[in-house]
Amino acid sequence: MPQIEAIIAQMTLPEKAALCTGATAWTTTPVERLAVPELFVADGPHGVRRVPDAASMAIGALPATCFPTASATACSWDRTLLQRMGQALAAEAIALGVDVLLGPGVNMKRTPVCGRNFEYFSEDPYLAGELAVSLIDGIQSRGVGTSLKHYAANNQEEQRMTISAEVDQRTLREIYLPAFEAAVTRAQPWTVMCSYNRINGVYASEDRWLLTDILRDEWGFEGFVVSDWTAVHDRVAALQAGLDLEMPGPRPRRVQAVIDAVALGELAEATLDEAVRRILRIVFRAAETPKGAGFDAASHHALARQIAADSMVLLKNDGILPLAQGGRIAVIGRAARQAHFQGGGSSHINATRVDVPLDELALLAGDAQITFCAGYPEDDSSQPALIAEAVAAAQAADVALLYVALPTFKESEGYDRADLELTRHQVALIQAVTAAQPRSVVILNNGSAIAMSDWIDGAAAVLEGWMMGQAGGGAIADLLFGVVNPSGKLAETFPLRLADTPAYLNYPGEGGKVRYGEGVFIGYRGYDAREQPVLFPFGHGLSYTTFQYSAPRVSSQTFRDVDGLVVAFEVTNTGAVAGQEIAQVYVHDCAASVQRPPKELKGFAKVALQPGETQTVAIPLDFRAFAFFHPGYGRWVAEAGEFNILVGASSADLRGAVRVTLQSTAALPSLLGPMSTLSEWLEDPAGRAALEPIYQQAMAAMAASVGSDGEERAAEEAAAMVFLAQVPLVDLLEFMGDGLPAAPAALVQGLLHQVHG
Ligand code: BGC
Repeated sequence: MPQIEAIIAQMTLPEKAALCTGATAWTTTPVERLAVPELFVADGPHGVRRVPDAASMAIGALPATCFPTASATACSWDRTLLQRMGQALAAEAIALGVDVLLGPGVNMKRTPVCGRNFEYFSEDPYLAGELAVSLIDGIQSRGVGTSLKHYAANNQEEQRMTISAEVDQRTLREIYLPAFEAAVTRAQPWTVMCSYNRINGVYASEDRWLLTDILRDEWGFEGFVVSDWTAVHDRVAALQAGLDLEMPGPRPRRVQAVIDAVALGELAEATLDEAVRRILRIVFRAAETPKGAGFDAASHHALARQIAADSMVLLKNDGILPLAQGGRIAVIGRAARQAHFQGGGSSHINATRVDVPLDELALLAGDAQITFCAGYPEDDSSQPALIAEAVAAAQAADVALLYVALPTFKESEGYDRADLELTRHQVALIQAVTAAQPRSVVILNNGSAIAMSDWIDGAAAVLEGWMMGQAGGGAIADLLFGVVNPSGKLAETFPLRLADTPAYLNYPGEGGKVRYGEGVFIGYRGYDAREQPVLFPFGHGLSYTTFQYSAPRVSSQTFRDVDGLVVAFEVTNTGAVAGQEIAQVYVHDCAASVQRPPKELKGFAKVALQPGETQTVAIPLDFRAFAFFHPGYGRWVAEAGEFNILVGASSADLRGAVRVTLQSTAALPSLLGPMSTLSEWLEDPAGRAALEPIYQQAMAAMAASVGSDGEERAAEEAAAMVFLAQVPLVDLLEFMGDGLPAAPAALVQGLLHQVHG
């Protein structure tokens, strides 16, 4: 690595300013006289979209493997698989001359209608964080950088470039930031991409709190921050906030603005130097990875197939699956011919090849007679003839396989979905075919939860195939015939209706603002808390075998917050075929001073088991597994008391629980202030001690004023206390008249002084 400080010392102001703005749509500005090369970035996140001409924003790109998108891979809950996918992505990036891959995206699925959910992992920050860490590790282990995006609170496509996410600190810290935090603190992505939107009124690209205080000072981020494409509005403010590289370029006016701001003394040159330093570190780091060798397209295609098979989720199965070979199979639905394997927008990959689901099915179906009909049109029209044809085909067969993909006009980057439904035609098709042929299996391709109440009862089985990547067609066949045993589990809840979803009444916002009114209660946290029935719960997924769980045990029943504990249990494959089980660990806080979700995912393991085999799963739970972000203290707090550790096969299929007691080691300062109520003073140990003399005096005065004796008096006192407890101490003291040693406000100040020291 060259001497970065020496280079900075030789750079002119215009060269520094230019380095902080892209030269093209995908490259940074080189400084040839100082041998500073360009950095080449490309989308991301589930394949390498390397456009041949860096100046072009066009969709056309060089061929690369399209892996399943994040909403699919998240359902694998498989850290190792994500790591392998990352290594393959890096190999392709290297082959295609790409230094940094623009992904992964770890935004939370606040609402299932977000058009870009297919690019995001989960509604759960822990799961998203774990998988992002693995993917980043995989990519960066090969000398290719990542761009963790979109930081932060970018949870809808509707007005995505301007909307202000109005979200409180606790919700940000517990829900919207932890996946970023995990990825940054544990995997150090080379770059972080800020989002388009505003957070509490401030554009992410200009948010110093977000880009500097949290990202760098708190989490220790060492790379550079890049803007989402065109997310910068005030270049100088963005630099001051900690945004290093503006993309895309060229933008000569932006470069000039930076030069002018330094010349006028509005921007310290040291601030610019710091951005330059961060960019140069990555530019030279990337240059250490030699580019250009080819990649093994066939083995990556095979890996894409394995990932797809391990990510699809068998949602329902009355026993029809796995299918036996042979017989008459009616394949219905155009998605069997034209695989729907990725989403629209910036992540669109030019796949090296694409498995045709129908052909892959035929390869595994033995001597089965297979018929095909399209079933539904490409557009939103209604074509009853297609349904009639499908019904006839289904009736003439032993089994009907309906391949139904949610069309891109309903789901894509750039806009949100209007509802959770398939198209009207698709629903009518499924209803008609399942009525005619009870042995019907629905295979879905979509990027986010869909509602199924109108048709699911008629289907014998439902396989969620997601946006399955280029080899997904083969993966579907593998699962249908039991070549692979389904093992995916939902990383997001499937609600019954849109109106049930936690953000329903606070979406898409008004007047440029969307209020995150549901707070921390998104996804299963919200459904659980409101005891809302769902179609399929978070963590749900079926297998062709069965698993039994032993009772869980813990390393210590009583433990200190800083030590955490380990929960262990056995999982046994009690069925006849090999399979993989995703065992999930949730934590429930039995009593807390804030409203907490009934349970939160804090650990999981995916175990592969032969029939009859047992494995022990041991999952460590650290301080954060028990903590919440205390809005008053502005820090993570694990409150002393009892917690239940719940072990389950899904968030709704709990197999065991163990109760533990946490001992807090935190020395928390008192939160008492000038307007604290009597009850707050009495609940605060230091406050109570300070107040005690006056309190006794007040109680005596009150007793005298009530006047009566015995039981009656005690009852009256208790009743009075209920009211008095809610009164600010300072106001209460006003009533004590002359008996007080000082004026109430001064007295409270004095007490506060004693308490806070
Ligand atoms: C998207 C990013 C993407 C960038 C470059 C933006 O519109 O939000 O995710 O990386 O374009 O294509």
